[in-house]
Amino acid sequence: MSDDADGRLLELDAVQAYYGLAHVLQGVSLEVRPGEVTALLGRNGAGKTTTLRSVMGLVSVRGGEIRFGGEAVTGRPTHRIARMGIGYVPEDRRMFPGLTVEENLRLAALGCGLDRERSRAGFERVWELFPALREHARREAARLSGGQQQMVAIARALIGNPRLLLIDEPTQGLAPAIARDIARTLAGIAATGVGVLLVEQNAVMALEVARRAYVIDEGRIVAEGPAERIRDDAGIRSRYLAV
Ligand SMILES: Nc1ncnc2c1ncn2[C@@H]1O[C@H](COP(=O)(O)OP(=O)(O)O)[C@@H](O)[C@H]1O
Ligand SMILES: [Mg+2]
Repeated sequence: MSDDADGRLLELDAVQAYYGLAHVLQGVSLEVRPGEVTALLGRNGAGKTTTLRSVMGLVSVRGGEIRFGGEAVTGRPTHRIARMGIGYVPEDRRMFPGLTVEENLRLAALGCGLDRERSRAGFERVWELFPALREHARREAARLSGGQQQMVAIARALIGNPRLLLIDEPTQGLAPAIARDIARTLAGIAATGVGVLLVEQNAVMALEVARRAYVIDEGRIVAEGPAERIRDDAGIRSRYLAV
């Protein structure tokens, strides 16, 4: 599997997605390149989470195409899509609160089908990326702060060494200083060559770390471009972003 010659890691081409009869995504096209953060912004209910769920095969995609590393993923089961090299951090973080940090990560490694060697490499990578988590390895996830829990959720998604990270509103409910830590972490992950698709309502933070951004509204992409251009466009900000 290789990236497209022009550097596209993930490509959505006119994706149509439904919940039952509700037609939610109405032709979403976007691309994520390796080694940079791409932001997907928009108001509550715009279709951001549904876009990530479409990539992971968690909603019904009935039109258009999704390609990862040039290969079609549309119609594949979620675990296969994940094992192609996509880490997904859902909105609710979905951890096992009664298990320790290390146990949560071990379950994630099992879920990725990692053998002992790759699991060890995965742990080394995430401990290096999140030294503070290593100190809390034996602590129950429920006893961590919100920011630390988000770090565990990100670490879980990274344990299998994905080439693409999809992350849904990681700064929601966190204090500004903690949100900045998360943003810095995402920039650091992208700097290792991973493509990051960052969904946020916190447009200010997202536009600080992203190289490019898309704005979605009512299931359609209504603006796209370099992050600074989206940031400086007062019309886009007032129409589609809550800033
Ligand atoms: N499970 C579901 N069943 C039916 N409709 C849903 C479901 N989840 C989301 N929707 C609808 O799909 C639209 C997009 O939702 P979502 O992708 O969650 O938006 P965002 O993440 O941008 O806030 C909204 O109108 C929402 O009400
Ligand atoms: Mg959402």
